[in-house]
Amino acid sequence: MRRPVIVVHGGAWHIAKAELEANIAGCRAAALTGWERLLSGAGALDAVEAAVRVLEDDPSYDAGRGSYLNRLGQVQLDAIVMDGQTLDFGAVAAVERVRHPISLARLVMAQCAHSFVVGPGAEALAEHLGMELCDPADLMGKQDAGSWAPPLPTEVSDTVAARPGDTVGAVALDLAGHLAVATSTGGTPDKWPGRVGDSPLVGCGAYADDAAGAAAATGSGESLMRIVTSKTAVDLMAAGHSAQAAADLVLARLWDRVRGYGGVIVIDPAGTIGLAHNTPNLAYAYVTRGGGVVAGAEASPISTPGRAAGLAAVMV
Ligand code: GLY
Repeated sequence: MRRPVIVVHGGAWHIAKAELEANIAGCRAAALTGWERLLSGAGALDAVEAAVRVLEDDPSYDAGRGSYLNRLGQVQLDAIVMDGQTLDFGAVAAVERVRHPISLARLVMAQCAHSFVVGPGAEALAEHLGMELCDPADLMGKQDAGSWAPPLPTEVSDTVAARPGDTVGAVALDLAGHLAVATSTGGTPDKWPGRVGDSPLVGCGAYADDAAGAAAATGSGESLMRIVTSKTAVDLMAAGHSAQAAADLVLARLWDRVRGYGGVIVIDPAGTIGLAHNTPNLAYAYVTRGGGVVAGAEASPISTPGRAAGLAAVMV
């Protein structure tokens, strides 16, 4: 009998010991929310959207309510959702008044002639489509606006640019055999206003194709974009690699080609899961075919080249 599958992540980065439990618990709750949808017959798109909404509401993560502030002390959010059956996707970037960017991305996909809408135009579209906008202050769950420091110099600091964030994502296979992926992020801490990373870019932060697999990426967007991480992982599965091998190989490429840090979760069309990262932690959860939920903050086994260097760089 076919069983649905869902995997979620809460970001590849260094999770402080005191925050580990909350990060793992949030992923568990998100995976179970998506799983219940799948069991009740909902499609993979519904499941990944529902799972990511849970993570967007949780201030533990750099998405929705817990997002990092940019250099002007603002939250600017990016998200994408993609349907593996049709290859259709919807994405938004740099939105400041949207509580659930993943749901706006879904609305863009379902109700808009365009695929990717950004900034004030995306917020106007949200209102046009009946979505209530929120107060930007409602999104500042991780750090209060009062802690914001004055703008930094105009140069992008290397250390900030290289620091992985804790973007969230979900991939799912539904009872009908369709795949979907969703990714949502607040981007990197202290980012330049208007900066957009890999997360909302089709093929970079997310990709899903029923014929090959689905993948969601996390980590340093400036690196992940360069190797089109999620599409690369899906292409590796299309070429015959297992889900775990595809996850390992794409992380190896991220390190070998661009010295990038990050993580990826993947599912193949049969529902086999792969998961890899070269950062100290990747909070994740998935539901096994028997309905048991597995959650943690370390992939096992971790075979990704570059991880040792990643540890040394990120732990400082
Ligand atoms: N991976 C999230 C970002 O770089 O924005």
